[in-house]
Amino acid sequence: MTTPAEIQFKEVDLDAVASATGKIVVFVDADGKLDAGARKVNTLSRKALARFTDSAAFEKMATGDLATLAFPYGLAAEAVCVVKLGRRPTMQEARKAGAQIAKAQNGKDLLVLGGSIARADEIALGLALRAYDFDSHKSAEKKPKGAVCFMLSKPEEVAKAASPMAAIAEGVFFTRDLINEPANVLTTDDFAARLAAMQDLGLDVEILEEADLAKLGMRTLLSVGQGSDSPSKVVVMSWNGGGDEAPFALVGKGVVFDTGGISLKSAGGMEEMTMDMGGAGVVAGVMRTLALRKARANVVGLVGLVENMPSGNATRPGDVVKSMKGDTVEIINTDAEGRLVLADVLWYAQERFKPVGMINLATLTGAILVALGHENAGLFSNSDDLSDAFLRAAKTEGEGAWRMPMGPAYDDLLKSRIADMKNVGGRYAGSITAAQFLQRFVKDDVPWAHLDIAGTALVKKETALAPAGATGWGVMALNRLIADKYEN
Ligand code: BES
Ligand code: MN
Ligand code: ZN
Repeated sequence: MTTPAEIQFKEVDLDAVASATGKIVVFVDADGKLDAGARKVNTLSRKALARFTDSAAFEKMATGDLATLAFPYGLAAEAVCVVKLGRRPTMQEARKAGAQIAKAQNGKDLLVLGGSIARADEIALGLALRAYDFDSHKSAEKKPKGAVCFMLSKPEEVAKAASPMAAIAEGVFFTRDLINEPANVLTTDDFAARLAAMQDLGLDVEILEEADLAKLGMRTLLSVGQGSDSPSKVVVMSWNGGGDEAPFALVGKGVVFDTGGISLKSAGGMEEMTMDMGGAGVVAGVMRTLALRKARANVVGLVGLVENMPSGNATRPGDVVKSMKGDTVEIINTDAEGRLVLADVLWYAQERFKPVGMINLATLTGAILVALGHENAGLFSNSDDLSDAFLRAAKTEGEGAWRMPMGPAYDDLLKSRIADMKNVGGRYAGSITAAQFLQRFVKDDVPWAHLDIAGTALVKKETALAPAGATGWGVMALNRLIADKYEN
């Protein structure tokens, strides 16, 4: 997998500044006051730094912006990167400043003169997250990855605070890799193998194969994968870091490729459906982070891995299948497949684990892109308490989410003439009727939330902390939700 840069935290040694190669980073607050590290750079460079911080160009910079002074006199370094940042940045300011540093790094070694700046750990996290590059299928020579060293007045303290953040970065990278990976590489077998490898981190990983799923009666899930040569699977990952309390459950849609099945999608943009396992990817990334930071909570992650393909054996529109719960579904459109996968996995999660709460994630509907674009995931829930807790965690982490309505009138749209329900609710409110479908497989007393991440999982343009492509949206919010609500 793509691994985050290793970041070193060292004692301040200003005598090392003159001979440091690569790029040197200094932080200067809005009033242009230089700290000890910046003063050293200023002296060595015959006041080049002060000339810059006195300039109109510096004044025009916004908080978190970075400017580069190239090939400064008096330094071995090829550039000094000046980041405009107060001594006490907010968490988001610190992360965004780190991201700017990553963008300026360009494969060079970095010496970051942090001194006593607050939230150096968050700056390091922003740097690590934005430095992500999915280059495993590029055959050209691999770009060098420069070393990163922070010089700090309290390096041990920051290193300690940064350790759970390294776990976050690795979880996010794991999710991004899974989502970016093409479907001929990330088959259901390959996906399951990558999850099984997490046993080395102390997670219990169990793989249910098609025969097991058939025995459990997971006919709606199996109906999605039956047209594919890749076998359908459910993978259960358990992290038992708490006591003997019931776990919190995370459930993910893992459609490794969504052609639409017999209700075939049109060609334009279909290649994007390699990301249709995004929900499962986020669940996997969260489980990885929890294991790496040895979270004191019980969390179980379940993913339904299938491929939605047309074939002589594929499900037809009009077919009626029975779910594990026992309810029958008339499949009007084989492209509304994610809900069929989740129905069985949600039911199984509740039957087996009696979870204290449950959140599922899915790239479920194109309609959520129409409603919310790439900025916010859609949140649907039967619990104000769980919704509020998630929205708070997401806001803190800078991951957008917006609660959407649900209700019986929407649920009525799923009525079928011949079965207990149909799998689509018509043209309008497509994201909501999808959520209503899922809720039919959630027990009334289980606090549950559904996150429709079709718009946030993958973006064409870079975001604050990620290059274009898979964002890893949700890993940080869910990790924080678990830390705040379920860890003691
Ligand atoms: N995987 C898609 C949803 C999707 C669309 C994800 C765009 C990411 C980007 C899902 O399985 C799907 O095809 N949904 C249909 C539902 C419809 C047939 C009721 C859709 O949104 O068109
Ligand atoms: Mn589909
Ligand atoms: Zn899909």
